[in-house]
Amino acid sequence: MFIWLCRPWKITINMKQVKLKDKVFEVSIPSDKIQHAITGIAHKINQDYKNKKIPLFISILNGSFMFTADLLKQINFDCEITFLKLSSYRGTSTTGSVKQLIGVNEKISGRDVIVLEDIVDTGITLEQIIKELKKFGATSVKITTLLLKPEAYNKDIGIDYVGMEIPNDFIVGYGLDYDGLGRNLPDIYTLKS
Ligand code: IMP
Ligand code: MG
Repeated sequence: MFIWLCRPWKITINMKQVKLKDKVFEVSIPSDKIQHAITGIAHKINQDYKNKKIPLFISILNGSFMFTADLLKQINFDCEITFLKLSSYRGTSTTGSVKQLIGVNEKISGRDVIVLEDIVDTGITLEQIIKELKKFGATSVKITTLLLKPEAYNKDIGIDYVGMEIPNDFIVGYGLDYDGLGRNLPDIYTLKS
């Protein structure tokens, strides 16, 4: 009891678990570590883009909403921000599932574009985004991801800014979901095996 009263934060972090539907998750990246990684990314982007003309950040929904909000608060040059969603639907062709970017209203041609992703896993989503963005004629496209799973990533696309490399485990929180739940959690949790 005495220890609990004196150091409640330690006890809380060690035991912090959430149950989402049928699965239990354990905290693996606390909020302060996430914020530290974001500050590192912001510092590099501020350096690299200080002389560029109004770059455009493109945040990939849904997962990147929290990361985008926290990162953009630390960006110190004039910039614009837009949000994109990758929609999957059944095409009319026999090839089946087709993915397209929806929500591109800003002028992209001739702009320096910085894509914001929550996590890069296999890189399939990223590859699709880059393929679609190329059609809009950006001057440059750089990729930022808060999290990267190097063991799963198998694409050749270079990722310019990485917040943290993580093991190939399923995670939730800070924008990431399990079956729609967990996006609101300020920390990141790993599925308990
Ligand atoms: P990729 O196409 O395999 O790189 O996966 C990218 C997308 O899958 C991310 O933008 C997330 O939406 C989702 N994703 C990948 N890993 C996880 C995870 O561990 N938890 C929750 N969602 C994930
Ligand atoms: Mg995502």
